[in-house]
Formats: sequence, structure tokens, C-alpha cells
Amino acid sequence: MRVEAHAKVNLTLEVFGMRVDGYHALRSVVMPISLADTLEIDEAEEIACDTGYADDLCVKAAKVLEPSRGARIRVTKRIPVGGGLGGGSADAAATLIALNELWGLGKKREELAEIGAQVGSDVPALVLGGAVLMEGRGECVSRLPAPVLPLNMVLVSPGVESSTREVYARCTPRSFDGHSPTVEMIEALSCGDLRRIAAALANDLQEAAVRLHPGIADVLVSLRAAGALGAMMSGSGSSAFGLVADRVAAERLAAEMEKRGYSAWAVKSVV
Ligand code: C5P
Repeated sequence: MRVEAHAKVNLTLEVFGMRVDGYHALRSVVMPISLADTLEIDEAEEIACDTGYADDLCVKAAKVLEPSRGARIRVTKRIPVGGGLGGGSADAAATLIALNELWGLGKKREELAEIGAQVGSDVPALVLGGAVLMEGRGECVSRLPAPVLPLNMVLVSPGVESSTREVYARCTPRSFDGHSPTVEMIEALSCGDLRRIAAALANDLQEAAVRLHPGIADVLVSLRAAGALGAMMSGSGSSAFGLVADRVAAERLAAEMEKRGYSAWAVKSVV
């Protein structure tokens, strides 16, 4: 069986105080994008994955789903690692969805999302698919209406790996002050107003990530200077994305960023 594992960007990421379990409480709009890894999954005696990572999330997902069954998983990687694009989580989410079918388990998406929470904070949102409101530490997920139009973006990797743990440890949580960029983003998405969507982009981890990797700030400045309507880091970084009006603008901006020495992709949101 062959499945695509789509990366995500966080259109907003609000970080609140630390919970008793050591994780931070979040509120985020998660949007899957067209950049994807490809997974080939076949039944086998034991669970094995060819990525070679000691803490491979596909293997973890398969074991949490059904420890007594076997599968061989091959991953063609395209999503940059340590980029805040949920690459490992996307692979784990695709593994859960594919094995549910391959092993004939008959679980609903919502059940798979709950199982995914044991694998990683971004997994439930990516199992659910489409635009998702993510809360709690990531385990509370609900589908949002599909955006009126697909969002065109340029994704840029500054070429450094950002540690999620380190970035969270250095971030200053926000207080509940009534204003929520997430609420504003959901409204902006529902009316398809690109300028409003660009203005609502937010990421409370960005400042801490920029302190650790100043190159992220250069990417954001370059994206805005080259014409992005809005630019923001995704997740805990290091990748950033710039919102543009259409596919042609995305390709032009991606080429411009590559000229400046970055890896860049013209992508769009997927539902
Ligand atoms: O769950 P995941 O393995 O993706 O999280 C990696 C690390 O990011 C956690 O160990 C924790 O330090 C931090 N984190 C957090 N609050 C969250 C999600 C992640 O503090 N809601």
C-alpha cells in the first residue's frame, strides 16, 4: 500500500503555561500542505521501517496501534527534518491510517487520532486531516471548515535543525488576555480574506527559536521583502512560510529564495 504523508504549517500557534505533565497548553490552527513524504507499507512478520532512526515515529505508531502485528514501512523523505513541518508526525499519522486499512482494524479517524496522541503532539491533527483546531497539548483536535480557496505559500528551510524541546523551554507563554489570533484566523479562513489571514498569522515560539537560530529572522525578512503578504515560522521551526496570492507568485518567490541560497518550495494547502 502506498500513502502520502502531508507536512503541515501552523497558521497560528498560541502557547500557554506548562501543564502538570510537563507539556505546554496550546491553541493552534494546523494546515496540511502539498509537500509530502511517500510511504510504502506491506504486511510482514515484524514491524520495521527503513528510516534508521532509533526513535522512528512510524514504528512507534505501528506498535501503539497493534503490538502483535507486523509491517514493513519504506519512507521516501521530502519533508525537511527538524523543520517544524511535522514530518515525523505526518509519517506516523499516515502509518496509523494505512495500517488500520491493511490490518482491517475498522477504527474511525477520531479513534486513530486518540491513539496518535501517544505517539506525538502533532499526530492527532495530522490523522484527522484538513484544517484543524488543535488544543490541549495537541490531543484535542477538531476539524475546521475547508478554506474557501486553497492557500498558496512558499516554504523556506534555513538549513538548521531546531529542537522542539529547547524552543519550548525558552519560550515565554502568553496570558489569556482576550485577544486570540486563532479565533481571528478561523474567521479570516471562513471568509477567504487573504490579507486578513496574513495579518492573523502568529507563532508564540518564533521569538525563542530566532534567539537560538538567528537565520530564521533573515528568512522572514527576505520573504516579506520579496513580496509575501505575511510570513511566519511553522511549529518550533526552523522552517518559515510566506503567504502569497496565487501559484505563479509562489513559484516566483520560491525561485527568488533559492537564488538567495535557501531550499524553497511552492506549496498549497490540502484538504
Ligand atoms: O510530543 P512531542 O514529542 O512532539 O514533543 C516534543 C517536546 O516538545 C516535548 O518533549 C516538550 O518538551 C515540548 N512540547 C511542549 N508542549 C507541547 C508539545 C511539545 O512543551 N504541547
